[in-house]
Amino acid sequence: MPERAGSGKRIAVIPGDGVGKEVTPEAVKILRAAAKRGGRELALTEFDWGADRYLRDGTSLPADAIEMFRREFDAILLGALGDPRVPDNQHAADILLGLRFKLDLYANERPCVLFDPRLTPLKNRTEKEVNFWVIRENTEGLYAGMGGFFKKGTPDEIATQEDVNTRKGVERIIRYAFEFARRHGLKRVCMSDKSNALTCGHNLWTRVFAEVRREYPDIQASHMYIDNLLLQMVRDPSQFQVIVTCNLFGDIASDVGAGLIGGLGLAPSGNIHPGRVSLFEPVHGSAPDIAGRGIANPMGAALAAGMMCEFLGWAAEAKSIEGAVRSAIGEGKTTPDLGGSMTTQQVGEWLAARVAS
Ligand code: NAD
Ligand code: IPM
Ligand code: MN
Repeated sequence: MPERAGSGKRIAVIPGDGVGKEVTPEAVKILRAAAKRGGRELALTEFDWGADRYLRDGTSLPADAIEMFRREFDAILLGALGDPRVPDNQHAADILLGLRFKLDLYANERPCVLFDPRLTPLKNRTEKEVNFWVIRENTEGLYAGMGGFFKKGTPDEIATQEDVNTRKGVERIIRYAFEFARRHGLKRVCMSDKSNALTCGHNLWTRVFAEVRREYPDIQASHMYIDNLLLQMVRDPSQFQVIVTCNLFGDIASDVGAGLIGGLGLAPSGNIHPGRVSLFEPVHGSAPDIAGRGIANPMGAALAAGMMCEFLGWAAEAKSIEGAVRSAIGEGKTTPDLGGSMTTQQVGEWLAARVAS
């Protein structure tokens, strides 16, 4: 059991699979440098959960993990989960979705913030114009795991997947988005659903949004169907500040958003339940196509560690991590995905040194 480090914070680290194992140690170096600079105490505990362990002894998310995290940790830093040797990715579902659901981390914050106009594939767009957040519902929807097979493997097979939308779940994420906007001094919240086709589940989203928006007259509330939202994100991202949407649409919108800011290597996220142990990770996955080559961009993981600092109340540390990433991009100290020629480790060490200086 990790020691309670005075007023320090207890962080669980799960590097996971593929590039998760390459970017997480770099994010940890940067986090340690930021904590040291700020005179903060950190107690880090690493967990070897991932495909290797699952294939070795069948462990994915141990039965006592949830209680342990609640009792003994302030936050979790995760790399990525997913491995071609586990074709159904059962371990990833158990660990990643298991933590999100069982810790009730209902708000997935995914910033889409452009650090340098050279990084966006859009024409003539500045940092001011690509600067919004996707707030993704993170505990229900099509991810709830409800469904099943009938006559599996036969020509008559039926497979179902239920879209679970609860009044409580929808209301709390919509309210979270409005509160988030207020806290950050933002003025616009756009809710996105597909209520024209999903006439039950997303009808609930429409009704709850109409109710909750009335409590926030200071915020401009709008609605877009998800197909149009994705088009508008690409056509004119400057119209968005906060987007709130369901689990699946938030997953998709945040990858499109990452595309607008320079790619998945740069995108962080926080899986949050206010006041409870929460989980921070890059948006990207285990990237088997580049894993093991030392070229994965560690910035998404580093910025996730920055979001974790913010969550822990370490605002100066969060700022220093983001500042270091901005400087690295400005000075071309980047991995190949951003046009540079540095390795994962070199970028990590550069960022840690900048944070320490
Ligand atoms: P992916 O995010 O792993 O990769 C998509 C593309 O982005 C690839 O071309 C990859 O090379 C690139 N990329 C990703 N991270 C990068 C980085 N740090 N630096 C530079 N380039 C990067 O998505 P995928 O290929 O669809 O999925 C691979 C595996 O990861 C699957 O098993 C999937 O289920 C899993 N996955 C896990 C998470 C997670 O743990 N949160 C997220 C997404 C996907
Ligand atoms: C993400 C990932 C996960 C998701 C997968 C691995 C289940 O794509 O974190 O964006 O869909 O939530
Ligand atoms: Mn995703």
